[in-house]
Amino acid sequence: MSEPKVWAKKSTFIFAAAGSAIGLGNLWKFPYMVGENGGGAFVLVYLLCVLLIGIPLMMSESIVGKYSHGNAIDAISQTAKRSNASQHWRGIAIFSMVTIFIILSFYSVIAGWAFDYTYAFATGEIGTGVDEVGKYFGELLGDSKRLIIWHSVFMLLTAVIIARGAQEGIEKALGVMMPVLFVLLFIVVAYSAFATGKFGDTLTYMFNPDFSKITPVVVIKAMGQAFFSLSLGMCVIMTYAAYMRKDVSITESSLYVSGLDTVMALLAGLAIFPIVFANGLDSGSGPGLLFVTLSTAFSQLGTIGVILGVAFFFLVIIAALSSSISMVEPFVKWCEEHNINRIVATFAYCLAVWAFGLITVYSFNDWSVVEFFGTEAKPFLGMGKSPFDALDFLTSSVFLPLGGLLTALYVGWAMNKMISREQLFTLNGALFGLWLFIMRFVAPIMIGIIFVFYALGEETMNTFIAYVTNLFK
Ligand code: TRP
Repeated sequence: MSEPKVWAKKSTFIFAAAGSAIGLGNLWKFPYMVGENGGGAFVLVYLLCVLLIGIPLMMSESIVGKYSHGNAIDAISQTAKRSNASQHWRGIAIFSMVTIFIILSFYSVIAGWAFDYTYAFATGEIGTGVDEVGKYFGELLGDSKRLIIWHSVFMLLTAVIIARGAQEGIEKALGVMMPVLFVLLFIVVAYSAFATGKFGDTLTYMFNPDFSKITPVVVIKAMGQAFFSLSLGMCVIMTYAAYMRKDVSITESSLYVSGLDTVMALLAGLAIFPIVFANGLDSGSGPGLLFVTLSTAFSQLGTIGVILGVAFFFLVIIAALSSSISMVEPFVKWCEEHNINRIVATFAYCLAVWAFGLITVYSFNDWSVVEFFGTEAKPFLGMGKSPFDALDFLTSSVFLPLGGLLTALYVGWAMNKMISREQLFTLNGALFGLWLFIMRFVAPIMIGIIFVFYALGEETMNTFIAYVTNLFK
């Protein structure tokens, strides 16, 4: 057997996994999800999900990947064989590959917006003030041709990076870009805090939860967002962990990656909400939030604003690219290890994703209200009104946690405990026991309960809670 291919440096896994985790999920999605789903209530449930399910599950995915050094399907197959477990568990990896295919299809369209904005700031096309910026955004969404052009550019770049197997090069670039993104985000937070005078309001909004806003839909969305942001449930971390060096600690890496990802999401919120409050914008305005708020602030700062605008949206593109490549790698790695040409596999896959992405493109204009998914006021099962809303909801809030649930059951119950014990060599007995307990009971039960409550709907849940509280009166 040939030597497994591993990354040269110890820290590369952290950079690659953090590169995958930190992306549009933090900068674009987290703030508008907070705004749409009850502010602090959402943040609280989100943080609980990261802590109780996210970090332990990241460790589990890493164990399977690092143990086998292969693509996700074969990694599960190998660990299952050694554990005398059913080969059917490989289904998790296949299900994952289908789901990330759909996620990437809309991810790329949104990343395209960042391209458009970088260009618009550089050429001075974005006007000054809230109304102008809002108008610019509206026009962009209405223009399917422009959306398709940028979507194509993004998919092409993703394909080229993956086809060349250039992850290590990307990793080097990320080592520079990620700190820059962090610093820039910090500058924007500082600006938002001092220039708007709304920092106090923002802190209250994000960290002082109104418990009455915690509904089943809010909880399922917060859980889905935690999975989305940490790139979990989809064998992506598993795939990257296959390149992990033997001496790297899984626990430590998982903590670093989750910590960095969470800090980035919170910073994005702290940057955006002061601008929302100062300009009287609607925090629940949805996917346009990042693009309208930050651009409004940048547009009022003259030349400095232009530089900040170009730099910021450029870094959003880089963050998105380091995430998108992680969504292509699982499939391409499988192809490569089954003697299918890497370049052919990459371009075929990316072309299919590109075509599927057209559904998202038209969701913002021609198909923006498709009543099949309910009406604007009362969306069907909280899915939203356009095909994009439905795809996003189904993949992020249902398929990702489902993938996570299956992974937890596999690693907790089906896989031989010795494999995990060996891989989590830095943990002492008690901590290992805690991790195993979370995998076996806490994570599956929590995800299960959230699914059940969500399926039953808010009214049933309230009746149930009232009934139970009555029992104890
Ligand atoms: N986590 C990335 C973000 O926040 C997106 C992402 C990358 C992802 N790989 C994934 C989401 C796998 C779900 C599954 O932008």
